[in-house]
Amino acid sequence: MSVRAVLGCLFGDEAKAKIVDVLAVDTDVVIRFQGGSNAGHTINFNNEKFVMHLIPSGIFHKNQICALASGVVIDPFQLEKEINALQAKGVSFSDRFFVDERAALVLPIHKVLDERNEQLSGDNKIGTTKRGIGPCYSDVINRIGLRICDLYNKETLKTKIDYLYKFHNIKSNIAELNVLMDDLFNFADKMSKYVVNLPYCLNKWLEEDKKILFEGAQGTLLDIYFGTYPFVTSSHTLSGGIAAYTGCSPKKIDEFIGVYKSYISRVGSGPFPTELNNEIGEKIRIQGNEFGSTTGRPRRCGWFDIVAAKYTAMINGIDSIALTLLDVLSGFDTLKICIAYKVNNKMTEEFPSQVSVLDIVEPVYMELPGWKENISLCTKYEELPENAQNYVKTVERLMGITVKIISVGPDRKQTIFI
Ligand code: IMP
Repeated sequence: MSVRAVLGCLFGDEAKAKIVDVLAVDTDVVIRFQGGSNAGHTINFNNEKFVMHLIPSGIFHKNQICALASGVVIDPFQLEKEINALQAKGVSFSDRFFVDERAALVLPIHKVLDERNEQLSGDNKIGTTKRGIGPCYSDVINRIGLRICDLYNKETLKTKIDYLYKFHNIKSNIAELNVLMDDLFNFADKMSKYVVNLPYCLNKWLEEDKKILFEGAQGTLLDIYFGTYPFVTSSHTLSGGIAAYTGCSPKKIDEFIGVYKSYISRVGSGPFPTELNNEIGEKIRIQGNEFGSTTGRPRRCGWFDIVAAKYTAMINGIDSIALTLLDVLSGFDTLKICIAYKVNNKMTEEFPSQVSVLDIVEPVYMELPGWKENISLCTKYEELPENAQNYVKTVERLMGITVKIISVGPDRKQTIFI
């Protein structure tokens, strides 16, 4: 397969970055297609841990091309910071890092608006990462957003920024705006060598038969249309977003790899049918170190949910599964998997579209025997305890999709290929 996509299929934080990093060995180009610095992509190797928010997770393979497509919303100062930090570690960007000139800019005003919207929402707040993501995508849809290419037109940049402040009814401070303009011009100069008309590069890479991997951020249940709206992020996180956000025809994508955590976690507000508000949930949180890599917030944890998982596999067209964080489930007497929902005493296997229904569904569980062994050093499927194998096979059977990768720890080496 020469064109693949790695997609988070739950509420994000499924350890996609690790899977992208592992698969990047056999890839020429990694393209991030949506989201912004709300994402926290963690990669561990050689006893070092790297957390990136914008840079594609293929960057540590020195021969790979990495690109940010038009659907990514770019906080210029975060991007610069990440590039500088990685360069200081010896990672080279020249001739292999590209940014689409269409990508929208996340500006300080977007963070102010994000904070303001959350405050206005009171008890209904979404629990955003406050990285300005929603306001930035809204400006794009409103056709008033600023894009990377605007940085190279000094005459109009100021007018466009002034208009943003006017549109959002936020008082601008002239001195602060002048500093912002200077910083943006500075950023534009440094970035100019990376900025391209990406669809042309991408389609040339396709013609050259390069192996391409699309990297998703967040997860399908946070998709702006198909997630648990309004408790979602503001982009298309599902496979359909790839074509719209990159300029790659959907006909060209050969394989969709769905990344599923072995249990479920969610950060921020919104429905979560299998959430465990008890000591089991707490144990999963501690064992899985389930604290947000962008905001540090404790993540809500719960049992694996086949209803939600089958829904996201269906709308993404998932071909194979990467089942991650299986090691976190060690040490439980029994494990549960939700196989259906009961809504007003009626059983359903359909994932409801409305939060008001999701809030009242009762999960119907099957129970499986747990295992006590530490599995984080297993490198082959056969080395896993019988009950862990049984857990994987049960997920596979219920999903009707092959599990091809199992992750048993954060390091690259802690990966089992089946
Ligand atoms: P926003 O994307 O910052 O607007 O946040 C919207 C919702 O998506 C909130 O519930 C966030 O916690 C959640 N969210 C955003 N990015 C991520 C992520 O990378 N992992 C998990 N949750 C995320």
